[in-house]
Amino acid sequence: MKKRLWRFIPVTAIVVSMLAGCSGFTSSYSELEGAAFGFGNGKVGVSMPAQELQRWNQDGSNIQADLEKAGYEVDLRFASNDAETQISQIKDMIESDCELLVIAPVNGDSLAEVLAPARDKGIPVIAYDRLIKNSEAVSYYATFDNYMVGTKQGEYIRDKLDLDNAAGPFYMEIVAGDSADNNAIYFYNGAMDVLTPYINEDKLVVKSGQTDFETVATDKWSTQAAQDRMDALISEYYADSMDLSAVLCASDSVALGVEKSLEANYTGTWPIITGQDCDIANVKNMIAGKQSMSIFKDTRILSAKTVEMVDAIMHGGEPPINDTDTYDNGTGAVPAYLCEPVFADVNNYKKLLIDSGYYTESDIE
Ligand code: BGC
Repeated sequence: MKKRLWRFIPVTAIVVSMLAGCSGFTSSYSELEGAAFGFGNGKVGVSMPAQELQRWNQDGSNIQADLEKAGYEVDLRFASNDAETQISQIKDMIESDCELLVIAPVNGDSLAEVLAPARDKGIPVIAYDRLIKNSEAVSYYATFDNYMVGTKQGEYIRDKLDLDNAAGPFYMEIVAGDSADNNAIYFYNGAMDVLTPYINEDKLVVKSGQTDFETVATDKWSTQAAQDRMDALISEYYADSMDLSAVLCASDSVALGVEKSLEANYTGTWPIITGQDCDIANVKNMIAGKQSMSIFKDTRILSAKTVEMVDAIMHGGEPPINDTDTYDNGTGAVPAYLCEPVFADVNNYKKLLIDSGYYTESDIE
C-alpha cells in the first residue's frame, strides 16, 4: 500500500489542546471533547449521485441521520446523476467550509480537479461506495466487497444451470454497469471469473458475441438503456424459438430494464436474471418470479461504518479498515472498509429485508 501523503490533525483536537494549554484548564481531553460535542462536531458535506434512484436516496438519508445523531451538521446534495452538477456542488461544499467530505461519485474519473483544493485546505475525503480515481485528496474508502458481489451473481448462474454437470449449451447475455463507475468492472470481473471457463467450453454461449466489458456496459446504469439494448438483442438473436437461459445483470436498475424488455418481446422460457441492491421494484419482481436473485447491500451498515470513519478522522482515532491493497485509485492504494454483500432471493427476502426493518411489508406489496 502506498502511504497516503498526509494524516489529519482533527480540528476539535487542535482547539481542545489550545484551550487546555492556554487557560490552564485541568479538564481531561475527554471532558473537553464532550464540551466540543455541545457546539457541534463540525460540518460534513455528503455528495450522492442521484435522489431519483432508490439506492442513493436511501444512502443519503441514512448517512445524514447517522451523522446528525453523532453531532455533525450535514450538507447533503444529490447530483441528478450528472458529473458536472456534482463537481459544482462539491466546489460549493469546499468553499462553504465543510470540514470533511463523503462522496459517491457519478463519474469516478471526474473529481480530481475539484478535489485538489480540498487536499490543500486539509479537508479529508471519504469515497463512499464508489472509488474516486486519480485524486490524492481521497483518504479512505467505505464500500462493499464489489468483486464478491459479482462472484455471487456468477456462482448463482453456474449452480442454477448446473454447469458442472449439465451438457448445455445454455444461452446467456450480459448487461454490466456504467464504465465510469469503478465498481462496475469489479462486478463484471467477479462474475466473469466464475463463468468464463464455461463460455470457453461452449457450454455457456453468449449468442450475441457481446462479452467484453465496454460492449456490455450500461451508461449511467440506466434502466431505459438496458431495456433498449435487450430489445435489440431479443430481436436479433432470440426472436425464434431459441431460449435464453440467463441474463447476467449487474444491478437491479439494469435488471429492471431487461425484465421490461423480456415481458414485451420475448416468448421463450423465462431466463435466470441476477441483480443487486434489493430495490423495491426488484423485490416485487423476485416475488412475482421475474427476477431470480439480488444482492442485499445493507446501506445501514455502510452508513454506520462511514460515520465511524468520520468520527475517527475528526477526533484523531483509528478509522475502521479491513482492506489496504485492493483499491488503488491511481495515486496508491486507498485504505478501505469493505462490508459484506449478502445473497437474496424469494426464499430469504422476508428475513433479510422485512424482519430486519429495512422495508415494511407494505413497501413491497
Ligand atoms: C453500486 C450499486 C448500484 C449501482 C447503480 C454502484 O456503484 O455499488 O449498488 O446498483 O451503482 O446505482
